[in-house]
Amino acid sequence: MIRSKKLHKYYEGEVRVHALRGVDLSIDKGEMVAIMGPSGCGKTTLLNCLSGLDDISKGKVWLNGKDLNSLTDNQKTEMRALNMGFVFQFYNLLPVLTAVENVELPLLLAGKSKKAREKAEKALDLVGLDHRYDHRPSALSGGERQRVTIARAVVNEPDIIWADEPTGDLDTKTSDKIMDILCKLNGKNGHTMVLVTHEDRVADRAERVLHMESGVIKRDQVKEG
Ligand SMILES: Nc1ncnc2c1ncn2[C@@H]1O[C@H](COP(=O)(O)OP(=O)(O)O)[C@@H](O)[C@H]1O
Ligand SMILES: [Mg+2]
Repeated sequence: MIRSKKLHKYYEGEVRVHALRGVDLSIDKGEMVAIMGPSGCGKTTLLNCLSGLDDISKGKVWLNGKDLNSLTDNQKTEMRALNMGFVFQFYNLLPVLTAVENVELPLLLAGKSKKAREKAEKALDLVGLDHRYDHRPSALSGGERQRVTIARAVVNEPDIIWADEPTGDLDTKTSDKIMDILCKLNGKNGHTMVLVTHEDRVADRAERVLHMESGVIKRDQVKEG
């Protein structure tokens, strides 16, 4: 369902950065995969390139059998809106909207306004925020905000959820709770989950860990059990 072949990414600027140096990977439907590695090794770049958020420089990426290079920007945007959910730190919640309005937004943007409010409330229930529908982000704790972000990512029932350091700013206990929710979604609803982290504690929860170093995958670790 997610495949890359000889994927390279350069950032052109005053100095050219070769951020991905030939990434080959294949992730099946329903897998929960953690991408690990030190800061600057290319994890975020890889997520952006695989999800079509950023253009790739060389090589190929296929999503659900579709070659990303063959899609227009509009087609990629549509694919993201319909089939993907994002838990990214820079994908912030809109401060003027309440929790339930933030979660509802992807449905409205995807033109699925029928029962949008009901679905948004269900998604918030799923992450244990049934008592926080009408709170604005500023009135929520960091962990609660991250749970709203997860509800927003799953409200569309996407095939793939991309998470970049989803527990980055959270204390251990809250981080464990967020991981419980993500694991549950993966197990119960079968969402394919690709999760970037630099924390062992978080990667421990995944069935498979791709270890990155300097723009390549050094080790593909599949756990037993
Ligand atoms: N927009 C950008 N322009 C130039 N260089 C970038 C950009 N984004 C990331 N980089 C560089 O690419 C490399 C990989 O970055 P990144 O994917 O963010 O790493 P990670 O998420 O593993 O910390 C780093 O050397 C970083 O400085
Ligand atoms: Mg990063």
